[in-house]
Parts: sequence; structure tokens; C-alpha cells
Amino acid sequence: MEIVVKQADLTQEAADVVIVNLFQGVTVPGGATGAADIALNGAIREVIAAGDFTGKAGETLVLYPRGALPARRVLVVGLGEADKFDLAGVRHAAAAAARKARDLAAQTVATIVHGAGIGGLDPQAAAQAVVEGTLLGLYRFEGYSSKKPKDWKADPAALVVLERDAGRVPAIEAGVRRGQAIAAGVCLARDLVNTPANYMPPLRMAEQARALAQETGLQVQVLGRAECKALGMGIFMAVAEESEQEPQFIILEHNAGRPDLPTVVLVGKGVTFDSGGISLKPGEEMWRMKDDMAGAAAVIAALGVAARLDLPLHVVGLAPCAENLPGGRAQKPGDVFVGITGKTMEVISTDAEGRMLLADALGYAARYAPAAVVDIATLTGAQGIALGPLAAAVFSNDEPLAERLLAAGDASADRVWRLPLYEEYLEPIKSQVADVKNSGGRFGGVGSSAKFLEHFTEGYPWAHVDMASVAWSDEDRPARPKGATGYGVKLFVAFLESYRG
Ligand code: BES
Ligand code: MN
Ligand code: ZN
Repeated sequence: MEIVVKQADLTQEAADVVIVNLFQGVTVPGGATGAADIALNGAIREVIAAGDFTGKAGETLVLYPRGALPARRVLVVGLGEADKFDLAGVRHAAAAAARKARDLAAQTVATIVHGAGIGGLDPQAAAQAVVEGTLLGLYRFEGYSSKKPKDWKADPAALVVLERDAGRVPAIEAGVRRGQAIAAGVCLARDLVNTPANYMPPLRMAEQARALAQETGLQVQVLGRAECKALGMGIFMAVAEESEQEPQFIILEHNAGRPDLPTVVLVGKGVTFDSGGISLKPGEEMWRMKDDMAGAAAVIAALGVAARLDLPLHVVGLAPCAENLPGGRAQKPGDVFVGITGKTMEVISTDAEGRMLLADALGYAARYAPAAVVDIATLTGAQGIALGPLAAAVFSNDEPLAERLLAAGDASADRVWRLPLYEEYLEPIKSQVADVKNSGGRFGGVGSSAKFLEHFTEGYPWAHVDMASVAWSDEDRPARPKGATGYGVKLFVAFLESYRG
């Protein structure tokens, strides 16, 4: 979709749909919506007075100007209660309006920046949220059906972001470009995760990373089975062993070779399919385990955004990718493996495979002498039991790093909630034959899995994000359609931006 910013009055704008807004409970609209209402001879006021539109968040109303305005339709979107309104509310409203415009088969859409006027939000941040909401709301995974659904409509071809005040246009323009870069990242992550595992094995993940690098100027390197073995990644390789699919250790770098900039390493779990291995999962929901590379997808996509926004940091993305299957060469419970740092690990469950990939990636991360390392993974069912679909869990051994991530979660609406890294979590993962074992059981399993990962870090500030419950959504929300959510991309971009200045 082409997006342009235009200094113009919405009552002069010819488009298939012009989008304005309304806070809940307002009876006489002001600002741009008020101007539209006056031009429409009070039509918006009349609908409100009749009780047919209340301005509830995401509610939409379509009016036909009959020549009173050059636009073909005026779409009023509800912003909800004014005192609860924030940037997430902007995304929600923009997404609901964009979807409604698509339902109407609109090709040209114009919108005001929700929240930048009466809402009192920063115009640049609000414009960014409008574009994010629009693009994330319109997102669909094309899929492989042989026919399009009957009610299928093409996406709008163009979005015009309207601003009357010339002095604010540069800020709106900057917000729009940032919103586009971030939304492109989230949509890429969603595509990678929604794609079935047979179409998205590790080799294909690496191809996608290479294509992104080509597009954005990232540096890319991919290690295969032989190279990972030669590096001593025995724990990662134990997972990859049984699959015919070649494992890939993907390395993306933004601002490579800039020793003047601080280095932040992002690490993402890339299990392209998790059957559980010999510790086989029950069959019922197993299909969803194609989303077990959502951490890797978030890292790859976030690196692309870091490059597009030219963030002033050296950012390294590590995405260890493998498929977890049972079979004749597969690792077995009780087996012991040695990883890249020389630390050893006993397998209790071959279904605790994500932490095994991450163990060697966290060891590898040490070579960058990083200022911070953050890993992200669909790691445990226990995380979802604790928090449900509302937030990811974050663990950290470094207070300033934890603070940065919590702030980034608030700013990006990719929510995180901190959980403790108690020393006692080491107890359940003590092994009689190795340094640690890969499972401490279900009780407190989200904490002991984090403690396992910490064991494989090498002295740098580190944080772990367990995103098991938020990678996939069974519920359709305006800015987050059913399926892969693209969680983590917005979080990481906000996190990386916190290093600015
Ligand atoms: N990929 C799963 C975690 C998961 C489960 C994500 C459900 C999303 C929904 C992970 O590899 C796993 O299997 N974890 C086990 C660990 C256990 C064997 C210690 C779990 O959480 O049950
Ligand atoms: Mn597993
Ligand atoms: Zn897994």
C-alpha cells in the first residue's frame, strides 16, 4: 500500500473513504470530525443523538455525503473513553477503520491522525501508530487455498494521512515512515510463522534472512550442520540430529564492523517444527508447533527494521534453526551432550529442545563482547499457564536491562511481565551426571527454564523473553488478526531505540 502525508483539509479530500473519529460519549464532535459533521449538515450529531453510534473503541459508522464533500464516504471510528486513550487505542482504531474500508472495497483511503488533535498524543508517535494499526489490521496470510473466499476484497491501494497544520507535517511524515518500517517487520514475522513447517524448514528461514539482508543492507552469515559441529555446538546439534532438514545457525548484523557502537545481541529460538522428539507431544494441538520458530522470526524481522531505521547500534541477530523430530538417530532422555562453552547437559525431555538451541547460541553470543544479550523463545507451556495470552514473561540478571525491556513493552504494546530468577531454581535442574539437566519438571517450569538459560550465559548482561503464549492468537482482534501475531518485533525495536542518546 502506498502511503503519503498531505497537508490538507479533510473536507477537501476526494477519496473512496475519509476516516475521522469520535471519543465515546461525545455528543457534539470537535476538531476534524466536527468539521466533517458541519459539512455534512449535522449528520454525525444526528446519528449520535439517535443513539446509533456511541464511539466505543473500534466501532464504525459510514455516512454518504451526497455531494456535500468530495469524498465518497465518511467513516467515523470510535476511540473509546478519552481518559483511557493511548497509542494502543490509536492502533486499534486505525486497524478497525482500515478493515471496514477494505470491506467497502475502498481503493483510496484518507485518514486523520487519531489522537494527535483532541487526544493530546505526540503527533509523530500517533502517526506511527496509525500506520502500524492500518498495516497490521489489513494483514492477511495468503495461504494455499485453491480459491479465494467469496467475500474476499482487495486491500486499499493508497492511504493519505491528512494534517491541516503545515508545521506538524514533518513530524507526521517521520512517524509514518517509522510505522511503515515496523509494520513491515511485524508482517514479515507473521508470514514466517504462519507458513507451514513443510514450507519453512531451517534452509528456507536462512533464505528469507538472506533476502532480507539483500534488501536492507544487513550482513548475513549462515552456519550449517558441519560448521556448527566444528564449533562444538553439541547441544544444538543433539536437537537437529534426527531431522533430514539441515539445521541452520543464522547470523544477521546491522552496523557490522563499527566498534565505536555498543553491541546488542538478540537470540531467537527457531524450532521450525516441535514434535517433542522421542518425548513425543500429544497429537491434538501438535500442528500449532509450526509456530515454534516465532522467536527466530521476531529476531530476523527486528534486524530488518533496525537496518531500515538505521539505528545507531551494532545489533547482532542469532537464530539457531532446527526441526525437532523422533527417529533412529534422535537424542534420548538420559543422554548427555557438551556445548560450545564446554558446559555439559543431561537430557530429561527431548521436548525441552528450545533451551538446547539457545544454550549454544548464548555461548556463541559471548564472542561479540556484548553490552546486552536478549533471547526470545516460545519456550514453555508454563509461561502461558502463568500469564495467559496477555503478556510474555521476562527474566533478567541485570536491573538496567530489565528496566529497558519493561519500558519497551509499555511503549510497544508487546507486553512483558517480569518474573524472578531465584537461585533456588537451580535445584530442580541439578543433574547427577552433567552440569545441568534440561528440565526441572512442570512445577515452576518457566522459572527453572530461565535459570537453565542463565547457566549458559557468559558474564554479559542478559534477559530472556518467554513468548510461548503470545506467538499465536486464536482470537481475531483489529490490529492482530488470528494466527501468528508477530510478537517481539515491536518490543525489540522499542528496546533497541532506548539506546539512542
Ligand atoms: N515449544 C514448546 C513450548 C510451548 C508449549 C509453546 C505450548 C507453546 C505452547 C517447548 O519446546 C516445550 O515443549 N516445552 C515443554 C518443556 C518441558 C518438557 C520441560 C513444556 O513447556 O511443556
Ligand atoms: Mn518442545
Ligand atoms: Zn519447542
